[in-house]
Amino acid sequence: MPRHAAALLLACCAALPPGVLAADTQRPEVGVAAAALQERVVAWRRDIHQHPELSNRETRTAAKVADHLRGLGLQPRTGIAHHGVTAVLRGGRPGPRLALRADMDALPVTEETGLPFASTATDTYRGQRTGVMHACGHDAHTAILMGVAEALVGMREQLAGEVLFVFQPAEEGAPEGEQGGARLMLEEGVFADFRPDAVFGLHVFSTLNADTIGVRAGPTMAASDRFGIRVIGRQTHGSRPWGGVDPIIAAAQIVNQSQAIVSRQMDISAQPVVLSFGAINGGIRYNIIPDAVELVGTIRTFDEDMRADVFRRLGAVAEHVAAANGATVEARIPAEEGNPVTFNNEALTARMRPSLEAAAGTGKVVDMPLVMGAEDFSLYAREVPGLFFFVGATPVGVDAATAPSNHSPKFDVDESALDLGLRAMLQATLDYLDGDAGS
Ligand code: NI
Repeated sequence: MPRHAAALLLACCAALPPGVLAADTQRPEVGVAAAALQERVVAWRRDIHQHPELSNRETRTAAKVADHLRGLGLQPRTGIAHHGVTAVLRGGRPGPRLALRADMDALPVTEETGLPFASTATDTYRGQRTGVMHACGHDAHTAILMGVAEALVGMREQLAGEVLFVFQPAEEGAPEGEQGGARLMLEEGVFADFRPDAVFGLHVFSTLNADTIGVRAGPTMAASDRFGIRVIGRQTHGSRPWGGVDPIIAAAQIVNQSQAIVSRQMDISAQPVVLSFGAINGGIRYNIIPDAVELVGTIRTFDEDMRADVFRRLGAVAEHVAAANGATVEARIPAEEGNPVTFNNEALTARMRPSLEAAAGTGKVVDMPLVMGAEDFSLYAREVPGLFFFVGATPVGVDAATAPSNHSPKFDVDESALDLGLRAMLQATLDYLDGDAGS
């Protein structure tokens, strides 16, 4: 049975005892709440989608979230890490403490979906005028968590334990020269007053169909680190290379040699590693060998030791290859503190997987392959046991492998994903708080 049909059925048959829907392990109250909230969650998501805001600029979205939480009788804390909003819900019974996190920011992408509620917003990013779009689905995450909060408030008396709702800005990274995101949320004490026993988050994802949830235990999303290498030579005429030191030749050799770090030196049978250069800048004229060349790139890893090892090896390659050319380097590896590996606590993942199955249905929770993208949810999951799962965004019947991916101007979230995401998060939350996941 399609899950939305199950939800509707539960809504009209809420008085039926559990077990009437034989194969259904979803809590009846989850189906009832989801059915009651479905239309509003869709409306919230469309509204947020139509009014996207770049990282650290989420004023309207944050106000909408805070208003909603206030309307539920909660007392939101606002202005954390610029536009972050949090609120605590205390249940009527004792129990554990759980944090639920959604991200709120959009991307400098000009939308091409053609949706009736498509964004026409613009803003300035890195000095350029650009369209702004929820091209990563954070609009869906925010709307889902608003719905989860409302559902849980409605169950307050029966609820065991406490829930911290975390609406986070700037997941995509703060603009240059600014701080933001999960790192700043933590620095500003999001877990200081309320130390959760666990944290859950979800992401809508184009590579899965909208009736499917993806999850994996252990390393899940890559650590993402940016590096910069400045290769310093000595400027000379292009006709007399021996009169100077050519940083272009040295930079080219660094680019080539550093590929041998991944292919020859790292144990990629343990975990994959990616090392990519994204830009090379140097020189101005065809017959001048420049003074310096800038290389920038990214490193993706799934293991903290391997992460540190790649940094060390890339530094050694840069230094020694430059030296072999008579050049020097100023290496920034990493250029700044990046996102660590998004790590799903194994015991927690095993415990909560039946909850996800209860929401998605038998056979609709799949093992997620490693995701080379990164998430600053990783920083919360480094503090306390974390569970981060993926909800399919691509309509059933469409090949998810070829659907426009997250960050594409054509990325879209099938609205049934809002219902599945809400039910999965709600079911997992209630199971976790009751301490008997999967019941
Ligand atoms: Ni995202």
